[in-house]
Amino acid sequence: MGAIMLVGSVVVMRTVYVPARERVDDQPGAEFAEMLRKLMARFVMIASAWLLISGIISFILFVNRYEIDKSEFPGSMYHMIFGIKFLIALCIFFLTAALNGRTSLAQKMREREKTWLTVNLVLVGLIVFLAAILRLADRTEKSESSALPVPPAVAILHDSASEQAPGEIG
Ligand code: HEM
Repeated sequence: MGAIMLVGSVVVMRTVYVPARERVDDQPGAEFAEMLRKLMARFVMIASAWLLISGIISFILFVNRYEIDKSEFPGSMYHMIFGIKFLIALCIFFLTAALNGRTSLAQKMREREKTWLTVNLVLVGLIVFLAAILRLADRTEKSESSALPVPPAVAILHDSASEQAPGEIG
């Protein structure tokens, strides 16, 4: 949900709101711009907090419950890809917060809003792509993989013994 909100807000701002504003003569007044900024700031703050908290929780649960198959890609690079995804997430959180902030840096960045939104659009595309790659990594539940494997010969003996009637030999 957090990802949908944050990614959606970047996509809509860059592909709908900013182009629409550029194509009309009547520019939104200062009051409208300030209200939009305030509401967007609240919206992206909720989305970012949601993503950060749910992302950390799912990573901890994931590391505790699953074993990644590191013998082949993408499992072999799971942690590196996760690290890159995390850093990109921090950049996205910063850019979305800065574009809707009140500081002088935020005001400066808003002067080049279209450029920064384009950068953010590329980053959100990249992070969703990386998330899809992480999802492709083969994984097994730890309880399953930590159970001792049964040698095939023992499994056959066990199966044929359980098919015999009680007291039957052989
Ligand atoms: C802009 C920020 C982010 C976006 C757009 C994003 C997006 C996504 C998406 C689309 C998925 C795939 C979900 C699925 O298919 O079930 C995912 C998975 C995941 N995300 Fe994020 N995420 C973001 C930030 C974070 C952060 C900050 C963390 C951790 C601190 C995180 C941790 C994870 C984990 C652990 C998974 C599961 C990966 C797996 O299946 O192996 N994400 N993310």
